[in-house]
Amino acid sequence: MDNVHVALGARAYDVRIGPGLIARAGAEIAPLLARKRVWIVTEERVSGLHLAALKDGLAADGIAAEALILPPGETTKSWAHLQEVVEWLLAEKVERKDVVVAFGGGVIGDLVGFASAILRRGVRFVQIPTTLLAQVDSSVGGKTGINSPKGKNLIGAFHQPSLVLADIGVLGTLTPRDFLAGYGEVIKYGGLGSLEFFEWLEAHGPALAAGDMALRQEAVRRSVQMKADIVVRDETEQGDRALLNLGHTFGHALEAATGYTGRLLHGEGVAIGCALAFETSARLGLMAQEAPSRFRAHLAAMGMKRDLADIPGDLPDADGLLALMAQDKKVEAGKLRFILAREIGAAFVAEDVDLSVVRTVLAEALAAR
Ligand SMILES: NC(=O)c1ccc[n+]([C@@H]2O[C@H](COP(=O)([O-])OP(=O)(O)OC[C@H]3O[C@@H](n4cnc5c(N)ncnc54)[C@H](O)[C@@H]3O)[C@@H](O)[C@H]2O)c1
Repeated sequence: MDNVHVALGARAYDVRIGPGLIARAGAEIAPLLARKRVWIVTEERVSGLHLAALKDGLAADGIAAEALILPPGETTKSWAHLQEVVEWLLAEKVERKDVVVAFGGGVIGDLVGFASAILRRGVRFVQIPTTLLAQVDSSVGGKTGINSPKGKNLIGAFHQPSLVLADIGVLGTLTPRDFLAGYGEVIKYGGLGSLEFFEWLEAHGPALAAGDMALRQEAVRRSVQMKADIVVRDETEQGDRALLNLGHTFGHALEAATGYTGRLLHGEGVAIGCALAFETSARLGLMAQEAPSRFRAHLAAMGMKRDLADIPGDLPDADGLLALMAQDKKVEAGKLRFILAREIGAAFVAEDVDLSVVRTVLAEALAAR
């Protein structure tokens, strides 16, 4: 079992990582409880596969659990489902000292975290992330929220969980595509902060994707440690935390262009976005020309989408994609903020990027389709 401590003073918490955590969820959560009862919010797919095991794990410690089961998918991160969760928790008479459990991928974690932030002006919640993406990224750091028809993640709050239980065993039921989408965020950590981790992934990525549990645990541990280190330095994204958005300005534009559908998953957009950010960095003379190819070669070795050519269906032209990028939250005083890099593992926040270079990178990537 690994443990990463997120040292945020009064809001500090542990991220436990390892197999079998769902079976021992009761023992892990019990110290947080004022009464032996929790409220689980989950979704249909996760519920069908793992809810009984979680309830058993809680019952083993005498903890009663009620569950609300929502539809799966990104559209659940909406005003309508936020209302449903909050009203359900109120109807269940959840009190300020109670604990809500978010049991699912990033969609459930973001939605339930936000509901917990606003219920009675804030109740505690535990994240039990069930996707690789949620284990390495969305369950840690306290960003919670829902989507607006005007864009993704535009409504939300910072609300740190009280505990995160990343059970490596549940990753075994993910589809290969969902697993690899989460791996897009894992590679992002190598790309933004550690060439050594990227090289470790080059060496072990295929075995990890094939199911090696020890390698999966190590990849989650290293990713969570990197995220925790950054979040502790900059909890509310005034500076360094923006590094975690490597690949996201491009990725979010691609997600918007594909309508947040199965054409492109979030983590797939991030992986392609990292490649485009490296390409832009190389174009600007910041990074060796070979680096973007090396990054893409690893995506190819993993059987992942790596370029705009790999996205099925139509895409807007370069100006259309730039306009979608400008919608992103990372716009400050009308300037697009990009995360660029000097090498794989050395990213930095760039405020004044020449948009004509970005347009050229996009136009060439579109022309290759
Ligand atoms: N808060 C943050 O810091 C942060 C960071 C990154 C991403 N996000 C958000 O996370 C969301 C994406 O998260 P996600 O990729 O986990 O999506 P998701 O929650 O939709 O899960 C992806 C798919 O996996 C299924 N699933 C979940 N667990 C499973 C399991 N153990 N076995 C089989 N299937 C399982 C789900 O039903 C779904 O179909 C996006 O909304 C994104 O904005 C938030």
